[in-house]
Amino acid sequence: MAAWLESPDPLVVDLRKVTAADLAPLLEEETAAWRTALDWDFEPSADLVRRFVGMQALNGFALLDGTRTIGYSYYIREEKKGLIGDLYVQAPDRTPERENALMEATVEALWRSPGVHRVEAQLPMLESPLARKPPFASWFRSYPRRFLEAPAAQAFALAEREPEGIAISPWTEAKQDDSARLVAAAYRGHVDSEINDQYRSPSGARRFLSNIVQYPGCGTFFAPASYAASDAKGALCGISLTSLVAWDTGHITQICVAPSQRGKSVGYELLRRSMLALVAHGCRRVGLTVTSTNKGAIRLYQQMGFADRRDFAAYVWDSW
Ligand SMILES: CC(C)(COP(=O)(O)OP(=O)(O)OC[C@H]1O[C@@H](n2cnc3c(N)ncnc32)[C@H](O)[C@@H]1OP(=O)(O)O)[C@@H](O)C(=O)NCCC(=O)NCCS
Repeated sequence: MAAWLESPDPLVVDLRKVTAADLAPLLEEETAAWRTALDWDFEPSADLVRRFVGMQALNGFALLDGTRTIGYSYYIREEKKGLIGDLYVQAPDRTPERENALMEATVEALWRSPGVHRVEAQLPMLESPLARKPPFASWFRSYPRRFLEAPAAQAFALAEREPEGIAISPWTEAKQDDSARLVAAAYRGHVDSEINDQYRSPSGARRFLSNIVQYPGCGTFFAPASYAASDAKGALCGISLTSLVAWDTGHITQICVAPSQRGKSVGYELLRRSMLALVAHGCRRVGLTVTSTNKGAIRLYQQMGFADRRDFAAYVWDSW
């Protein structure tokens, strides 16, 4: 067909130009996509997007094809960092180029915000996440990540291990400050602190922890399956935090062990207890995400029955 007869490229516009009703079919499709791909109930996140778009209070962009809204993205600023909260183009219209158009507008808008030098994103529904050339390539790095999953009932097949001198107890919010210090120590020099700069300091880790306890991005925090490990002196040396991402699907939002206590089965036992509590709650499966180069953690998860469900990537743009 002659070029002049082809329909023009979809238009990227400010998210405030569309209504919650315009976005509704897109969010409905995205909710179904998360369910199919990951057994993840995206409805609480979709609901937040609808509400904030309804109030014209969400920063981001919409992709318009004529009168149809075929994609959207939104972003959040956290001090000197920008986060792409979501970016989705609906299935029949989805191409890496169209996703990139939204991505470029989003990263550019964040960079224009005073003081923002870094942008992070983890977007599991993105088309070919590993094989794409993203915008602003010279500031860009990507980290392959894996979504792993185990049947929750697998917990019954795992033998109990009792790490010597270690006590395991329920995690409570009173342990949040100690947990933040533990996260910062556990991820010092770790690839995951290149992906998420909140892991680099106790104050950043504190924000990370309050986000996973309070907001639905990683599912609904589930205290009954979250555990803490303490050493002989009572100091916190490991945590396994969980959420529910659907009524029958648990998720490990954080697991880490203090460097001095590694290799003693503390991680194994924390994860086993979390899985047991999730299956007791009625979960059929447990998921988690791990960076592909984190071979030690992957070995632990595989040993405990986790297998690959989906590949995705973490993206970082850093202009420093
Ligand atoms: C991953 C982590 C939680 C494991 O905790 P841990 O208490 O050291 O692990 P365990 O002692 O329970 O390990 C159990 C099994 O996992 C495997 N494993 C754990 N860490 C390993 C490593 N670094 N290298 C190779 N295998 C490892 C071993 O197969 C081990 O089996 P074995 O006891 O039969 O030898 C811990 O290393 C950690 O906190 N790492 C930094 C943070 C992190 O990467 N968290 C996971 C993010 S997804």
